[in-house]
Amino acid sequence: MATTLSPADRAKRAAALAALEYIEDGMTLGLGTGSTAAFLVEGLGRRVGEGLKVRCVATSSGTAAQATRLSIPLLGLDEAGPLDLVIDGADEFDPQLRLIKGGGGALLQEKIVAAAARRMVVISDASKEVARLGAFPLPIEVVRFGCLSTARTVATVLDRADVETRTLTWRQRDGAFLVTDEGHHILDAHLGRIGDPGALASALVQVPGVVETGLFLGLASEVLIGSEDGHVRRFPG
Ligand code: A5P
Repeated sequence: MATTLSPADRAKRAAALAALEYIEDGMTLGLGTGSTAAFLVEGLGRRVGEGLKVRCVATSSGTAAQATRLSIPLLGLDEAGPLDLVIDGADEFDPQLRLIKGGGGALLQEKIVAAAARRMVVISDASKEVARLGAFPLPIEVVRFGCLSTARTVATVLDRADVETRTLTWRQRDGAFLVTDEGHHILDAHLGRIGDPGALASALVQVPGVVETGLFLGLASEVLIGSEDGHVRRFPG
């Protein structure tokens, strides 16, 4: 039975299908994580079934499971070497192509894969486009050892940061702190507005126990913004 997509999902799917056009035979690809990236993986599975030859690296166990179900050839990042292209979703992007990612909890692998790629294309619907980052809570991945102590140090960093609000919450799953694919927890920083994303990212990763943040700076080269009628806008145009 055919499923009816919500308007937001139609927009996400439009962006994902447009990104498929960037994929060429023989490429080594990074596959993102999240509901938008899932449309990409679905479409890629169809193309692989039609004979497209690609080698892929997944950014999460969830994406790896989907790719495996669709017989998309997967390998580890270290086996793959440099990637031609990574295509991934985002939670927010600003006019300077700075991103917040990690709403799906996969920010660490996503950032490592993005850093290994020659090009990062972001697929999104228009709701993620913002003038300033920060309305979406910033995910901060922290090691489990001493995580409450790490959170206190993060709070002192935020006290000095150019942000609007400073509430920290722990990402939960099934009533417990979420454990990421890399065995860490995620602190969500509710900041309202981030005045200087570069300064904040640098300050946060200096905290012992912080592994990475969901601020993706200088990584994305293009955003494909889908709309529910199937139209796709490219930024920068
Ligand atoms: C996963 O950790 C995230 O970075 C996702 O890429 C991001 O949350 C976008 O997800 P959706 O495509 O589900 O909105």
